[in-house]
Amino acid sequence: MTFRKVDHVAIAVPDLDEAIELYKSLLGKGPEHLEEVEDQKVRAAFFGIGETNLELLFPTSPDSPISKFLEQKQGRGGLHHICIEVSDLEGHLKQLKAQGVRLIDETPRLGAHGKKIAFVHPKATNGVLIELSEPQ
Ligand code: CO
Repeated sequence: MTFRKVDHVAIAVPDLDEAIELYKSLLGKGPEHLEEVEDQKVRAAFFGIGETNLELLFPTSPDSPISKFLEQKQGRGGLHHICIEVSDLEGHLKQLKAQGVRLIDETPRLGAHGKKIAFVHPKATNGVLIELSEPQ
C-alpha cells in the first residue's frame, strides 16, 4: 500500500457562498475548482494549499449525507473528512478488508474531479471519516 499525500481536508458548511467568501479572505484567493458531485448530493469548492486542498462541502438535497452531518452539528458545519491519495485504490480496499478494517465502500465510486474514491468507516478510525482517492 502506498499512501501518497493528504489530498484534501473537507469542511461541511451551511451556506456555500458565505463560506467561500470567508475562506477567500482567510486564504487570500478564491477557489480553483467548483463542482457538483451527484453521487454524494453535494456541491464542492476546492481551494489549493500547496500540495493539498481545502474542500468546502454543501448539500444539494435533504437526503445528502452532508445534510445529516449539518443537523448533527446544529447547522454550524465542521470538519467532515480527510482524504488520502493512494496509488491503487482497489488493492488498498482489498488489503484493508483482509485486515478486518470496517469500510463504508468496499468498491470504489466516483468522486469530485472524476477520481475513484472510497470511504473507511469512522468506527475504524477513532471517529474520523477517511476518504481514499486515486487520481485518474
Ligand atoms: Co472528499
